[in-house]
Amino acid sequence: MEKNRLQHLAIIMDGNGRWAKERGYIRTKGHEKGADTIREITKYCAEHKTIETVTLYAFSTENWKRPKYEVDFLMKLLDRWLKKELTTYHKFGAKFETVGNIEGFSPKLQETIASIKEQTAHHTNVTQILALNYGSREEIAKAATQLAKRDEEITEESLGAELNTPYTDIDLMVRTSGEHRLSNFLLWQLSYSEFFFTKTLWPDFTAEELETIIEDYIHRNRRFGGV
Ligand code: IPE
Ligand code: IPE
Ligand code: MG
Repeated sequence: MEKNRLQHLAIIMDGNGRWAKERGYIRTKGHEKGADTIREITKYCAEHKTIETVTLYAFSTENWKRPKYEVDFLMKLLDRWLKKELTTYHKFGAKFETVGNIEGFSPKLQETIASIKEQTAHHTNVTQILALNYGSREEIAKAATQLAKRDEEITEESLGAELNTPYTDIDLMVRTSGEHRLSNFLLWQLSYSEFFFTKTLWPDFTAEELETIIEDYIHRNRRFGGV
């Protein structure tokens, strides 16, 4: 049997809070450590022969429900991290993109995001899409609204093309931390993806573990409804 090709990988980076709690730290410490894991994964994806896109769930539309101090910390961390991460994007030839409602962030953070996108737009080794203030139901509803406004027919193709996430099907979706749910992530784009759930908490996740997951994925029998 031919091996599955991995072009688009998506990850729900979960478990930062529990990682910190296990060590007696405050939750935000886990977010800081988790940000380092992103760098390792970006490098791995940039060097991987077939991965073209990696979409990482970083902040959901539901995450605003968290205590204000944690939300504020995440916003500041993102700003600081992105500025520092520019070196990584350049070093590994990674292009930075986002999906989600960025307008919900402060003007300063929006500026940082736009600037990093602009400065990495020419990179071609991998595209890293951070899902920020992202909710899949919102994305689908907005896409349908746009088509309705233009009085366009709503088909799988037109709706898919209207979504903010580039309409390439996701091959493999990994969620860390042992939770078995999607938490409003890419409902449309994950229709025929392979799923892998690991108990590892995101700050402990490594490129080596990703490699073993990919090894499992490439040998799976993807039937897409056929026989
Ligand atoms: C994922 O880790 C990061 C974000 C959602 C921002 P969590 O913060 O959800 O960590 P747990 O699930 O509480 O351990
Ligand atoms: C999903 O994780 C969102 C991100 C990883 C950014 P959550 O920790 O917010 O999801 P639930 O609450 O466990 O479903
Ligand atoms: Mg969580």
